[in-house]
Amino acid sequence: MYMSTDEVRNAFLKFFESKGHQIVDSSSLVPHDDPTLLFTNAGMNQFKDCFLGLEKRNYTRATTAQRCVRAGGKHNDLENVGFTARHHTFFEMLGNFSFGDYFKEDAISFAWEFLTDTLKLPKDRLLVTVYETDDEAFEIWNKQVGVPADRIIRIGDKKGGKPYESDNFWQMGDTGPCGPCTEIFYDHGEHIWGGRPGTPEEDGDRFIEIWNNVFMQFNRHADGTMEPLPKPSVDTGMGIERISAIMQGVHSNYEIDVFQTLIKAAAEVIGYEDLSNQSLRVIADHIRSCSFLIVDGVMPSNEGRGYVLRRIIRRAVRHGNKLGAQGAFFYKLVGTLASVMGTAGEELKKQQAVVEKVLRIEEENFGRTLERGMTILTEALDNLGDEKVLDGETVFKLYDTYGFPADLTNDVAREREFAIDEEGFEKAMEAQRQRAREAGQFGTDYNAAIKVDTNTEFCGYTGTEGSSTVAAMFVEGSEVEALSAGDKAIVVLEETPFYAESGGQCGDAGVLKTSSGLFKVEDTQKLGNAIAHHGELTEGVLAKGDDVAATVDAERRAAISLNHSATHLLHAALRQVLGEHVTQKGSLVKPDNLRFDFSHLEGMTKAEIKQVERLVNAQIRTNHVIETNVMDIESAKAKGAMALFGEKYDDEVRVLSMGEFSTELCGGIHASNTGDIGLFKITSEGGIAAGIRRIEAVTGEAALDAVEAQASQFEAKLGDAASKAKSLEKEIQQLKDKLAAVESANIMGKVEQIGGVQVLVAALEGADSKNLRTMMDNAKNQMGSGIALIANVADGKVGLIAGVTKDLTGKVKAGDLVKMVAEQVGGKGGGRPDMAQAGGTDVAALPDALKSVKGWLEERL
Ligand code: ALA
Repeated sequence: MYMSTDEVRNAFLKFFESKGHQIVDSSSLVPHDDPTLLFTNAGMNQFKDCFLGLEKRNYTRATTAQRCVRAGGKHNDLENVGFTARHHTFFEMLGNFSFGDYFKEDAISFAWEFLTDTLKLPKDRLLVTVYETDDEAFEIWNKQVGVPADRIIRIGDKKGGKPYESDNFWQMGDTGPCGPCTEIFYDHGEHIWGGRPGTPEEDGDRFIEIWNNVFMQFNRHADGTMEPLPKPSVDTGMGIERISAIMQGVHSNYEIDVFQTLIKAAAEVIGYEDLSNQSLRVIADHIRSCSFLIVDGVMPSNEGRGYVLRRIIRRAVRHGNKLGAQGAFFYKLVGTLASVMGTAGEELKKQQAVVEKVLRIEEENFGRTLERGMTILTEALDNLGDEKVLDGETVFKLYDTYGFPADLTNDVAREREFAIDEEGFEKAMEAQRQRAREAGQFGTDYNAAIKVDTNTEFCGYTGTEGSSTVAAMFVEGSEVEALSAGDKAIVVLEETPFYAESGGQCGDAGVLKTSSGLFKVEDTQKLGNAIAHHGELTEGVLAKGDDVAATVDAERRAAISLNHSATHLLHAALRQVLGEHVTQKGSLVKPDNLRFDFSHLEGMTKAEIKQVERLVNAQIRTNHVIETNVMDIESAKAKGAMALFGEKYDDEVRVLSMGEFSTELCGGIHASNTGDIGLFKITSEGGIAAGIRRIEAVTGEAALDAVEAQASQFEAKLGDAASKAKSLEKEIQQLKDKLAAVESANIMGKVEQIGGVQVLVAALEGADSKNLRTMMDNAKNQMGSGIALIANVADGKVGLIAGVTKDLTGKVKAGDLVKMVAEQVGGKGGGRPDMAQAGGTDVAALPDALKSVKGWLEERL
């Protein structure tokens, strides 16, 4: 019976739903509530506290299809990928869970029923293992299910290993829930090499483990003690790729539908023909872990989770390069992946563009050094001769200069049957760390060495004052019994209203007072489970055991809480305006302003920024009550609360809601009503990394300041512009006057004599009418005695001015002259005998009109 991977997933979930299990969503690859875990590596991770009895949910049976990454950490398969038929960095684990409900009997019979009845696998192809001493499981398989005894194999602890170190004793990590397990194997047939579990050939590919049923019974502590769990429980895991391989009649996981599609797509984008090439498998595997890690908020970086992601990307790029890929190719597979993952690919579809961009940029950056690094590595390997180990210094140089993670170098070396000197590499790394430490000695982090047992109680959600006792004090990393004035120190209290920096909210400042001493707190930080007040004793003395009055700087705290509440509104508003792909990538809430980093491809437009500001301010005016409810994480998710990836949440989470607009998990401190925020103003928006934007904003008084500052800036600019315009105008007028002076000088050449009288008739074009008077005055002055008529054509109109020196006004009046001319150009005019102005509209008639002046004057002079 053929089944697609998507069909297998649905059949599994439906089967267990029919057995009374709640279908629960896969949790993030970044464990929400477990700092001991690098990535989610099993279906049970999200239920860890249910097994431990620390968390109660409203169901006791659950089923999931959990995305898992096993690269780095306890369960690390990275190096095996591509070399075996069934190891992956990313896979989906189908699981059913009982939290103190059913135990071995039901777990075994459910598993058997699903495999042999729902999936119709032939019984004689299946065999099982049990933990060596687990007679109960053996009996259930044998007597109740009817598996012949020779197909039930007992597996004990590993020879030379620690107690419980066994394939049939499952442990999540070095600590946490664990217990004996029974595993179900599928026999792929004689034609494939490999032996039954427990034999020396067990690592072959013939007998493949498909389903692990763990009987959770203990909580393992760091010192190795096994504490029984409150109630025996069940945790199972079946890799969907392995069971799909069986349902699709293939032997290797890489032959199932999902991988075949990805392998074909990879071959196509690279331009490579042979689909059986191992590198194509590596690429098909790696695009899954890389894409889903990015979806869950991991970004390539040089440390922690981000570095694991970077290593996987680089490994994929190197394999593509090996096949002759030209330029970035890896990111082009994201779309295919999103569609081939069926129901598990929905979130990836939404974030496709961001994931592509992050991968492309990472790929391009590495591509620049890949080739040179490969040349150096190949030469180094060529020169090795009989030695089979590449020295640590070269591995380090490749890492340091060419960005080759050690496991990538190892990968290349392994293909040529060389190993790398890991110890030598570690030594070179340590030497570099030492150099860095020496170079930056000023910044010695004394606090890193501090160990403190105190479990400080935080009592500052509702107030800013408290009284407490000094539990411990540290100066430069060493514990001290007493402080004297001038000491810079860390003070740990039994209980405190000071909020320690977390979840993006900065630590509180304030004072700790005793009857004689005053300790000024500049910052508050977490120190394990303790809360550490960093500052200086400015007066008196302070000793361990002293009672102190702890007072948080309330004004500063209030400013912080406004900014924190505004951050939630901003987050929700961005999702409304830009889309659901917006997820928080970081935040910093301080008294003066807030900073919010989020995933989004393009810079925001001015209109989008405005829209976000408007939305947030509308919510502020709505004045929602900011409500905090404490509940378990499942109920919080059911309420639709936004959880942040990578954030550690306690068993009980605080759910913060502002009306219907925003519901988020948050341990921080907030205003009581959105109205308290007053006003919200974005001060900057910009990109900080591929696909990540940063907004800085201010609230309350600071927002008002920002608006006012903007307005006065604007006013100042406007004032500047106005005075500039004025001075320009002045300059223009001066130039015009100069021009007029030049013109007046020019027209003087046209003076002629009529009847012994000096007469000037001139026509100008485009002169400023204001200047005609000045020109006329100049002309009269220069002639001393005479008559002048100046015409000017501007804006399609005729301007006329006539002037007669006083000695001649008895013979000719300026008003008459101008009137005579004006009438010929369609106007009227008149005025004083010595100076008269008029206008006309008939420009074409002007030349003749001017010509007539001579005859008219001859008659009169
Ligand atoms: N947690 C078990 C496993 O990962 C089922 O194998």
